[in-house]
Parts: sequence; C-alpha cells; structure tokens
Amino acid sequence: MIIRPRRLRKNETIRNMVAETAVNPDSLVYPMFVVEGEGVKEEIPSMPNQYRFSIDEILKELESCVAVGIKSILLFGIPSYKDEIASSAYDDDGVVQRAVRSIKAKFPDLYVITDVCLCEYMSHGHCGIVKDNDVDNDSTLELLAKTALSHAEAGADMVAPSDMMDGRVGAIRAKLDGNGYTNMPIMAYSAKFASAYYGPFRDAADSAPHFGDRKSYQMDVRNGREALREVELDLEEGADIVMVKPGLAFLDVLRGAAEMSNVHVAVYNVSGEYSMVKAAAKMGWIDEDSIIRENLIAFKRAGADIIITYHAKEALEKGLIH
Ligand code: PBG
Ligand code: ZN
Repeated sequence: MIIRPRRLRKNETIRNMVAETAVNPDSLVYPMFVVEGEGVKEEIPSMPNQYRFSIDEILKELESCVAVGIKSILLFGIPSYKDEIASSAYDDDGVVQRAVRSIKAKFPDLYVITDVCLCEYMSHGHCGIVKDNDVDNDSTLELLAKTALSHAEAGADMVAPSDMMDGRVGAIRAKLDGNGYTNMPIMAYSAKFASAYYGPFRDAADSAPHFGDRKSYQMDVRNGREALREVELDLEEGADIVMVKPGLAFLDVLRGAAEMSNVHVAVYNVSGEYSMVKAAAKMGWIDEDSIIRENLIAFKRAGADIIITYHAKEALEKGLIH
C-alpha cells in the first residue's frame, strides 16, 4: 500500500493541521424570545434552557451572552394582543420595537436582527392576511413592509422576513428605501420549508396556525430545485443574505444555495433539531457536546456563512467550536 490516509490522522496536531472546516464564533446568531411583562423568565417546556424573557430579563440575560462572545441575536416577539391584521406586529409600542430600543441602548455593539412575520401577532396564527380560508399574498406584503420599517425605526440592525409570501423582499426593500433606510440589510428566509421541525418553536412563540397548515406558502419538503429558484428570486429582489431552513434535513439545499452565487448564505438550525439533541442527551443516549459540534461543523462544511442556532450560547460557553 502506497497511499495510507491514516498517516494524517496520527495525532491531534496533524489532524488540526489538515482540518478543512472551522466554525467562526462570530457567525453564530442566537435566537431569543421576548414577551410583554416584567420579571418574566419562563423556560420553554419543549426547548430546555431556552426562555421567554420580558424586556428587563432579556437585558440581564444578554450580559452573560455578550460575556461568552455572542455578537448577534435574532429576536422574536410574543405580543400582548392578537387580531386579524396583526396590529401588534407594526405597533411602534410593540414588544419587539420596545425590546430593540432597550437592547440597543444598553448594548450598542450587539447586532440585533428581527424576525419579520405576522403569525405571532395574528389571532389565527397564519403568516399573513386570511381571505377565503387561505393566506392572501398581496395584501400581506404591505403589513410585512410596515413591520420591517417599524423594526428599522426602533433601531434594528437587520430584518429577516420569514413569511414566505411571494415578492416580500422587494416590498420590504422598497419600503425601507422609501423611508431612508437604504443601508438596512435584509436576510431573507428564502428556502423555508413547511417542516415539522418547527413544532417546539410554535409552542415557544404561541404561533401555531389555528386551522390548516402552512403548505400553501412554505415550501414542499420534496423540492430542492424549487428551493434554489426561491433563493434566486430573493436575490433579484435585493436580499443581502439568503437563508435555508431547517438545516440538518436540508444540507443539500444549503450546499446548492452556497454554490449558486457569491451571496452570503445563512442556515437556521431550528427548534425541532435543538429539541431532539436535548431530549436524546437527557436520556443519556448521545454525547451532547460532540453532537452539537458535529452539527455546527456540518452546516459550515455544507457552505453556511452564518449559523442561526439555539446552541450558540452553550457552544461558546463550553468552547465547542474551538
Ligand atoms: C415564523 C417563524 C417560524 C420559525 C421562524 N420564524 C415558525 C413557522 O414558520 O411556523 C421557526 C423557527 C424554529 O423552529 O426554530 N414564521
Ligand atoms: Zn410566520
């Protein structure tokens, strides 16, 4: 035998020397949930160690996040009222808007991304205006654009539309530009699949649809090529970053998006992926830290520049990606 790949696996030094992939701690984004009220820090039952925080509590939590090296968060709001036009989503006094103001005042260097969607704010739990038992695309665009603008006005650093309406990136871009926010980046949830992996999130954000499902707007999990078309459309409409979501079951799509163009690609390691790791670890069936590291590396190897993950804080705290 002349060729022996094991020669380069002999010890840790040589393994590290030839390692092809490293996860950049600065590209981790930590998703967080903010609720109305005071003194609220409520653990999400299906997502151990993830919480719904009131604004005062999220400010405390962020001290420790920043201390371990969290550079960016993705903020989700759980409002005090819901209606059929998602008024609390674009209310200047809404929970996300007030949270962004408080967070940016206390942590000006923390990069705050806001999720732009309407499901948490709609009485029926769908991501847009319901007409004839379906979500109406074009009337939803104006509400999404208003929501993104109100986040920008509150001081968000980036907006991330997750609704999957056609044309929403263009509508948001036009609204932001028309109001002087030409430098506000958009991270589009471009290839977002109608996935069962969002289950725990919907408990966390109280955003499950009250009738039907999201299959008329989120993508069919069987379609990889169509996902790349969605990516292409969002780029044409002015997306600065495109996202693939969920991550682990869609690494092929992630690779495809990364290879398709020179744009920056994000992946969302979603709630169900997190909960499965936590549950198996709790049972003692897997080595949790190694699994987390392996999953994060998988995203990077597949082509992700940015990784949005509920594991961000623990990964940094425990040095899992060094
Ligand atoms: C809102 C939204 C969802 C997620 C992010 N933004 C849920 C959904 O589409 O039902 C999922 C995040 C996760 O599962 O961690 N549209
Ligand atoms: Zn939604």
